[in-house]
Amino acid sequence: MFFVLIEDLKNHVGEEVEIKGWMYNKRGSGKLYFLQLRDGTGFIQGVVAEDDVSKEVFENAEKLKMESSLVVKGKVSKHPKHDDVFELRVTDIKPIRIPDEDYPISKKEHGIDFLLDNRHLWLRSKKQWATMRIRDEVIWAIRKYMKDNGFVLVDAPILTKTACENTTELFRVDYFEGDAYLSQSGQLYTEACEYALGRTYCFGPTFRAEKSKTRRHLTEFWMIEPEIPFMEFEELIDFEEDFFWYILQSVLENRQEELKVLERDVEFLKNIKRPFDRLSYDEAIKTLREKCGSDVAWGDDLGADDETKLTKLFNGPLFVHRYPVGMTSFFMEPDPNNDKLTLNVDLLAPEGYGEVIGGGSQRSINLELLEKRIKDQEINRKEYEWYLDLVKFGGVPHCGFGMGVERCVAWLCGTEHVRETIPFPRTIYRIVP
Ligand code: 4AD
Ligand code: MG
Repeated sequence: MFFVLIEDLKNHVGEEVEIKGWMYNKRGSGKLYFLQLRDGTGFIQGVVAEDDVSKEVFENAEKLKMESSLVVKGKVSKHPKHDDVFELRVTDIKPIRIPDEDYPISKKEHGIDFLLDNRHLWLRSKKQWATMRIRDEVIWAIRKYMKDNGFVLVDAPILTKTACENTTELFRVDYFEGDAYLSQSGQLYTEACEYALGRTYCFGPTFRAEKSKTRRHLTEFWMIEPEIPFMEFEELIDFEEDFFWYILQSVLENRQEELKVLERDVEFLKNIKRPFDRLSYDEAIKTLREKCGSDVAWGDDLGADDETKLTKLFNGPLFVHRYPVGMTSFFMEPDPNNDKLTLNVDLLAPEGYGEVIGGGSQRSINLELLEKRIKDQEINRKEYEWYLDLVKFGGVPHCGFGMGVERCVAWLCGTEHVRETIPFPRTIYRIVP
């Protein structure tokens, strides 16, 4: 008799094994029980027949309630009808803990607030299980891609005095002399590190006091931010495509069962082709006005609706590049062919999931321009002096971008809202559990 993980049961057909886990559901009565078992690695049905087991074991099966923890012994068999489904003919049950109360999450439909209040338990549900395992796969793929491509991981600080993006979204921290904030992006620090280490990336939680309540926004989310010295803008778009493609292929290859649990349209994902489509901001505005009936004007940011309408015209992710200066961040390089435009790019996910990679740009190393923008945008220069040093001491052309893990996972899973793609989501109204 030996202990086996459910994911490995396929290699033990005909053998008697022991599994350790939880019972998430039970059917049957009288002479036969079907126990739905899970152990984190997978799911299996255990069949308890009164005639096959001792009286004590059968009574244990009767006593089990939803989310009992237990050790089960039994013989592994192939499901009579389905090839990739296995069953356990139970011979012994040792309960570890049988709950006194009914489990609050049942098969019936629950409202989202109830589920989020019970997030600590909701995580055990099959779709949440699948989503978390896809999140894990995305993170491994990111790390593997970075490692294979010569990047060094650097960890940017969480407590900072600098705003990289929009100052209105900062979470203030009351501790240091003067204002300090939770990081909204590790980019500026990663840029400092690339001058020491070459290709670098940071990967950690970032914080935004988002006032908006949308399906794409969390107040705490994870971002991967690479920086690449000596890279020019056109190479950046190709690099982003290769990076994103690698993640997509990893999930398609290694998380098929999870995608099935989520009822994801896998054919759509498999049909995505390279190269991804690319539109300039100018072309995007024109297309939206002419083909999508949008009244968006040149100089407007692309709203969620516009992004959705635009991506519906394409079969895969869409790059939109060269946004107007003024809409873009202070550190971005202007287009040498048109100083009204910026050398920047966003990647829009298909199917209405919106911007999944943002901040992509060539970083400016024009000291006068950076100084002027810092002045014009009333940024406190004192806090950015160190950033200007990077340019002064050996500034080189370089590019980088940021990908929000949750947006990427939401799209891959086909999950309506990003809050289901992180174990414990933080949003404008939620910090518990
Ligand atoms: O476009 P953003 O704001 O870019 C930056 O922060 C750059 N400094 C990154 C860089 O160049 N190093 O954010 C990047 C990405 C977005 O495309 C989106 O995927 C995600 O971060 N994101 C969010 N995800 C969830 N909730 C939010 N509130 C998010 N805000 C941004
Ligand atoms: Mg952005």
